[in-house]
Amino acid sequence: PTNRTFTMIKPDAVADGFTGPIIQQIEAAGFKIIALKKVQLSSEEAGKFYAVHAERPFFQSLCDYMCSGAIIPLVLEKENAVEDFRQLIGATNPAQAAEGTIRKQFARSLESNAIHGSDSDENAAIEGAFFFTEKELA
Ligand code: CMP
Repeated sequence: PTNRTFTMIKPDAVADGFTGPIIQQIEAAGFKIIALKKVQLSSEEAGKFYAVHAERPFFQSLCDYMCSGAIIPLVLEKENAVEDFRQLIGATNPAQAAEGTIRKQFARSLESNAIHGSDSDENAAIEGAFFFTEKELA
């Protein structure tokens, strides 16, 4: 069934000028853009978005990184969106990501890994609602 996922192009990839090539590959893979914007997160907002990781040793560094520059959040639609998008972006660590995946091509490191992809339909809805209004997602 057609469903939605949520993604963010992260500060490293935006700063490196990879927004265009990444969006091109997302669309070429059959994802339809439902919503898109450019945002500068505050440290507090980054902490709220990544609250599930609050106890992880990398949490503070992750929050600093995620508010170090602009990000581009998007909501996408496709058949089997969550799973297919995670295939498209590849493993969290770009050193372990498959050839041709977005992280393999564009990420700098495990932390600065270019792009986010929701891990479930439920989290896709929660994460999309963090950045976009109901009207923007209609
Ligand atoms: P993502 O899986 O999209 O969401 C959690 C993020 O935390 C992850 O991408 C990386 O940016 C970062 N991350 C995950 N694991 C580590 C780690 N071991 N060290 C540093 N950053 C990490």
